[in-house]
Amino acid sequence: MSQSRILSGMRPTGRLHLGHYHGVLKNWVELQNTHECFFFVADWHALTTHYDAPSTMSEHVWEMVIDWLAAGVDPEKASCFVQSCVPEHAELHLLLSMITPLGWLERVPSFKDQQAKLKDKDLSTYGFLGYPLLQSADILIYRAQGVPVGEDQVPHVELTREVARRFNHMFGRGELFDLAVNNALNKIGKKAKKSLNRLRQSYLQDGSNEAFLDALDLLAAQQNISNQDREDLKAYVSDKGRIILPEPAALLTQSPKMPGLDGQKMSKSYGNTIALRDDPARVEKALRGMPTDPARVRRTDPGDPEKCPVWALHQTYTSEETHQWIKRECPTAGIGCVDCKQPLIESVLAEQTLIRERAEPYVKDKAQLVNVIKKGNERAREVAKQTMAQVRDSVGTLYDDL
Ligand code: TRP
Ligand code: SF4
Repeated sequence: MSQSRILSGMRPTGRLHLGHYHGVLKNWVELQNTHECFFFVADWHALTTHYDAPSTMSEHVWEMVIDWLAAGVDPEKASCFVQSCVPEHAELHLLLSMITPLGWLERVPSFKDQQAKLKDKDLSTYGFLGYPLLQSADILIYRAQGVPVGEDQVPHVELTREVARRFNHMFGRGELFDLAVNNALNKIGKKAKKSLNRLRQSYLQDGSNEAFLDALDLLAAQQNISNQDREDLKAYVSDKGRIILPEPAALLTQSPKMPGLDGQKMSKSYGNTIALRDDPARVEKALRGMPTDPARVRRTDPGDPEKCPVWALHQTYTSEETHQWIKRECPTAGIGCVDCKQPLIESVLAEQTLIRERAEPYVKDKAQLVNVIKKGNERAREVAKQTMAQVRDSVGTLYDDL
């Protein structure tokens, strides 16, 4: 199990569809086997645009998390939680807001894009401007190394990196850091302190990498210091400040082009989706009714798979052998579209049977779902609290006596 931590979130939009499954969820399911994963419901983010729909929120949260579990997210491997159940996100968001220039937020592309797209909503709000900064807090509070996101979210991760850099620069040095370094130096004893300073000088002045490595060895051998002391002394030796909030990397999710039932991109707003846990009869009917190459009006008209949205679905759902068969038989009208759709329908239905089976225990017994989320909330909160203790210490709002 790799040590690095992954975090990702989704706004609670209710039931997910096949586009989410093949784009995002399968990726999450893979990551949970190799990384420590935190996946969360970004309910506060949903409120930044849908602040006027409080009555549907909880239902959307339940349905979406069931879909995660149905897709194969394993609560033993990944922590699934709800953003607003970890109020530390809000505290970090507030503290980050102190050092985030307005211009950084105003120039995030989604700010103007979404305002233009959701014209009927008043998005000239404080909360909406802060959307990407809240996302930064989501990420930084877990000190996540990797953030799997789609392309549209990359600027948000980029902002997160800038904010982290600024935060570390402002609070990773200064009086508190000097004090911590001095305390740590005193803990390691006179002799080690002298050696460490000598190695530091030789690294910083003469650029001796060997001296740096020796310094790391020396630090590793110290018994009397905490991990934080060790980190601080390492930062001291290299003349860097303390890294309080590490910069995350965006892990770009390659989503296959998943056409919707009308051939456009599958999206709830186009009303062209197949839900992850759709009714099998509806799925079959919807696929049978899907448009094909417009040139194939009659069974005897030859077709071109490249002009057919059904062909795009085959890419995700059927075998290479089937693809060869279609490429051979569609252009010669050897098969009709009804024949072509049959293996596709079977494959989608088989996939959904498995998905519905995984969802079943949670649909039947909500207490199980609640337990999964409660456990996730607890794990998340534990990490978030640790980070916040350090953040508070750094900004000066950790009061020993209070
Ligand atoms: N903004 C993301 C989206 O719309 C959701 C999100 C909120 C998120 N916080 C996050 C994603 C933190 C990754 C990490 O898809
Ligand atoms: Fe599309 Fe298949 Fe019909 Fe060809 S045979 S047009 S690929 S549905």
